[in-house]
Amino acid sequence: MIGRLNHVAIAVRDLARAAQVYRDTLGADVSEAVPQPDHGVTTVFVVLPNTKIELLEPLGAQSPIGKFLERNPDGGVHHICYEVADILAARDRLVKEGARVLGDGQPKIGAHGKPVLFLHPKDFFGTLVEIEQA
Ligand code: CO
Repeated sequence: MIGRLNHVAIAVRDLARAAQVYRDTLGADVSEAVPQPDHGVTTVFVVLPNTKIELLEPLGAQSPIGKFLERNPDGGVHHICYEVADILAARDRLVKEGARVLGDGQPKIGAHGKPVLFLHPKDFFGTLVEIEQA
């Protein structure tokens, strides 16, 4: 059911510094910072030949990555995102298999303008999983 790895998201405290490291130290193709107030993060997209890295910095007091950074003060891998062909069919299969979908179970429009859902990390070996309709 899952297809390509769409992105790996890394939560960081200092987005400018993280973008600089990915651009200058690692030599990657790095976007400008994009504030995403609906998602409580500011994002830098790092485009690699086979996938993307998203660097996430908290935006606002209610950022969904605030608690994560309290627990992981150096930053860390926050979630991984797999593509699916049909997000509602994927959700129904996941629920049938016993996986927990976060929130109200309805897909939301993600950072790439496509429908996404998040799955409980305890059901996926300690990793928060995002699925995105390709
Ligand atoms: Co994501």
